[in-house]
Amino acid sequence: MTITVIGHGYVGLVSACVFADFGNNVYVIGHTSQKIEKLRNGDPLIYEPGLKELLEKNLLAKRILFTTEYEKAISSSDIVFIAVGTPSKANGDADLGTVFQVAEKLAPHLKKGFTVVSCKSTVPVGTNRKIEGIINQYKPKNAEVAIASCPEFLREGTAIYDTLNADRVVIGSDSHKAINFLLKLHKPMNGKRVITNLASAELIKYASNAVLATKISFANLISFYCEKAGADVENVLDAVGMDKRIGRIFMDPGVGYGGACFPKDVKAIINIGKNLGIDPLLFDAVEKINYEAKLNFAVKIMANTKTKKVAIWGLSFKPNTDDIREAPSLFIIGKLLDMGFKINVYDPVAESNVKKVFDETKIKYFTDPYKAVDEVSALIILTEWNEFKQIDLEEVKKRMKDLIIFDGRNIYDHEMMKSSGFSYYSIGRPPIKNI
Ligand code: UGA
Repeated sequence: MTITVIGHGYVGLVSACVFADFGNNVYVIGHTSQKIEKLRNGDPLIYEPGLKELLEKNLLAKRILFTTEYEKAISSSDIVFIAVGTPSKANGDADLGTVFQVAEKLAPHLKKGFTVVSCKSTVPVGTNRKIEGIINQYKPKNAEVAIASCPEFLREGTAIYDTLNADRVVIGSDSHKAINFLLKLHKPMNGKRVITNLASAELIKYASNAVLATKISFANLISFYCEKAGADVENVLDAVGMDKRIGRIFMDPGVGYGGACFPKDVKAIINIGKNLGIDPLLFDAVEKINYEAKLNFAVKIMANTKTKKVAIWGLSFKPNTDDIREAPSLFIIGKLLDMGFKINVYDPVAESNVKKVFDETKIKYFTDPYKAVDEVSALIILTEWNEFKQIDLEEVKKRMKDLIIFDGRNIYDHEMMKSSGFSYYSIGRPPIKNI
């Protein structure tokens, strides 16, 4: 098959590389020539494990082609995916400007025969109908088009694995022909197939992210209870999760969820609800708890440090990515800077992105995590990168001024920390005060 993917972010580029790897001819359309040039040279522009290798392999096989031009790509395609961003507007709505723009741009180039236009971007209920309207308005008379919604469930950091091994492949469309085209394209992928209508496919995506964000806020809320009650949130949630109806997975308390998806999609589902005349009170609470999780941790640091010189390990919103969109680290650094803290930071891959937010006059960047803790009063862990899990406590001890660790991801064993000589503040577990 020949397909076009419009957009080369996490969803667009990963999907394009995977479809190319299956043997399809894939065009990827972007709108910035410098980025397209880099992609042509094998630079995926983002840090995602395995993506560079997959991109280089398919460039070499000439199965993937990057362009800024719509005409040739669209007119030769059987399926066109829209995979552009839908960031939050100031009022929390998903910004659909780019989605509608690309629909208008692609429509005139649709070929005479049949083409499926499928939206992979996360879009509110009713958006695909609007895309259909735009395409019907601008397409050539003899072009036969069917619209489909094909939401994506990949996670950053494991994007290729998730795409190949999805729990489900959701295809929403009124057209049997479109559904069959998409089933054929997705054939090599694992996962159950869910065939449904457009509105259901659109809602499945938001409902999935909303329930995942709800599990995290639930875990964080229980951690607030544990801190006040002297309980241990890990013991509590382990036992709660042993009930098969509940499960323990994706219920890790921490410094709040971040990233390009949950914060934006929870805001959007709140507004979708309001627009439908529904009071989205559960999702309002999910958002509020997430804010409290970040704030509580910043307050905990301020209340328990001896001097205002600290080190932070981990800046990306989660491990195995350099993505810092809505990362809790940005919020916490901002709060600490407001209070006059001096901050050393270390992250294995996210440094250059954070520099765009806080330049070197605001915080000090280190390429060695241990050097970052020299003479500081506290070590703060905000991302659970594997390399932090087996910390050399003796080395850290030699370098730090005051022995205090704030662990925003509960990566260290509570019992082990009791005899470590450090004061240790984590999430939802009793503080250990050794100094
Ligand atoms: C999320 C979903 O997991 C994907 O299924 C979805 O496709 C994607 O959004 C999207 O809509 O595109 P992602 O944002 O890459 O994926 O990352 P997650 O692994 O879901 O983590 C999101 C945030 O939640 C991170 O900040 C993470 O630290 C936090 N989290 C996750 C917790 O605080 N506790 C947990 O138990 C799990």
